[in-house]
Formats: sequence, structure tokens, C-alpha cells
Amino acid sequence: MNRKYRKTIIAGNWKMNKTASETVAFANEIKPLLPKTRACEAVLCVPALNITTAQKALKGCRISVGAQTLHYEKSGAFTGEISADMLDDLGVKYVIIGHSERREYYGETDATVNRKVLAALAAGLTPIVCVGESLDQRMLGVEKELLAYQLMTAISGVSAEDMKRIVIAYEPVWAIGTGKTATSEQAQEVCEHIRACIRKKYDARIARGVSILYGGSMNVKNAAELLKMPDIDGGLIGGASLKPADFAQLIEISAQVENE
Ligand code: PGA
Repeated sequence: MNRKYRKTIIAGNWKMNKTASETVAFANEIKPLLPKTRACEAVLCVPALNITTAQKALKGCRISVGAQTLHYEKSGAFTGEISADMLDDLGVKYVIIGHSERREYYGETDATVNRKVLAALAAGLTPIVCVGESLDQRMLGVEKELLAYQLMTAISGVSAEDMKRIVIAYEPVWAIGTGKTATSEQAQEVCEHIRACIRKKYDARIARGVSILYGGSMNVKNAAELLKMPDIDGGLIGGASLKPADFAQLIEISAQVENE
């Protein structure tokens, strides 16, 4: 992480976990465990149905509540979907876009990810754009080309001004929920490459200001090592974000690394 130029973000992705009552229980449990001073930007992306409950339950404890996806149209006949304006109206800031589970199970493509990114920006939201290679792609050694393509498609049509509001999450698909973490060197190499791609499209000033997160089995044991890497500015955390003690500790670890 490089605190001088960019925000450190610890973002939890709850996926399809926790009912409203469980969300309240989580909030009550985590509150006394959180660092007293502002440590980093902490976000929990909860199921859309529980956003309001989570906001109320986490009030006053410096964790903002985000969403896990949105639709790219402003409104209309899209049963079951949620628009950027709906999220904005609830006071949501962060929204995950293009998570590999959305790409795998719900047919999201690089093109729809791009439309969603543009819709989120237009509504004033901050997209957390996920990119990542599969195990096969890594075995073939094409991950850098693939990530450059995923990224460039996702941010196609994004102005330099708007790029400052985007967060990128590098999530190797083979590391998500598998307990297999990329080594800090592997993750750093890719995050550095992502930053270089942003530099090439925009300029050095924009690139150094973009927070790039690592995601994929990040936990209290491996977080410090990953966060010490110069181009890793935080984490997108699934499993470990469901446990109040672990999520609080991840926030604490990021503060410790920042202060080193
Ligand atoms: P994980 O999930 O931490 O459980 O691997 C990360 C993610 O999918 O964002």
C-alpha cells in the first residue's frame, strides 16, 4: 500500500450470506472490536435486501455498507434487478461490479461489466471492479494479457476524472473461496501490472491514485504480508468478512501496516 497517494480499503463481500437478524447480530458483535481511531476505509457489501438493516445496525462505527452488483439500465422491466439510482438513494457508495461469480453464474461479460461501471459512475457511486484469471489461464501464462483486456474493456469510455473514483480488485478465480491464496509476490506482480495498464491509458498521476485490492482467501494470517506489497492497497474479502472478530482484525492489521 502507498498511503500517500491512495486510500487503503478493506471491503467485505458477504455474497448470499446472513439474514437481516444475523446482520444485526454481526454489527453488535463487531462494534466493540473495532479500532477506536479511523484505520482505513472499511466497507461491507451485503445482500441488497439487507442494506438498510446493515446501515442502521452499523451506524456510527465507520463501516460503510456497499452493494454486490447493480443493473446498467436506469429503470425498466428488469425483474429482480437493482439500479444505480436505487443504491445511491439509500446512501450507498461502493458497489462491486464484475465479480467472477457473477461472470460465471449470471452471464456477466466484459461488455456488461463496462455498462455497469458507466452506470455506477453516472449515479455517483464508486465501483469496485473485479478482474481475475482462471487456473487454466494462469497455467497457460496468459494472465497478464487477459487482465489487461478485462480491465481495458471494463473501463472503456471512463474519463480520467472518473477513473479517480474507481477501485480495482484483482481476484484470481482459483483463489476465491478455495483457501489457496496467491503469494504476496504473485499478487503484487499482477497489481503492479494493472497499475501500469492504467498509467498507459491515462497517466502516472491517475495510476498512482487508484486503489487496487487483492481478493481470494485473504484472512487474518496472510493479510499483513499481502498489504505490505507496494501496489496492494487493501482487500476484497469473502469468507473472513463473515466473522466479526476476523473482519475487525483485518481492519486493525491494515492500520498496523500503514503505520509501519
Ligand atoms: P474469499 O472470497 O475471501 O472467500 O476467497 C473473496 C471474494 O470472492 O471476493
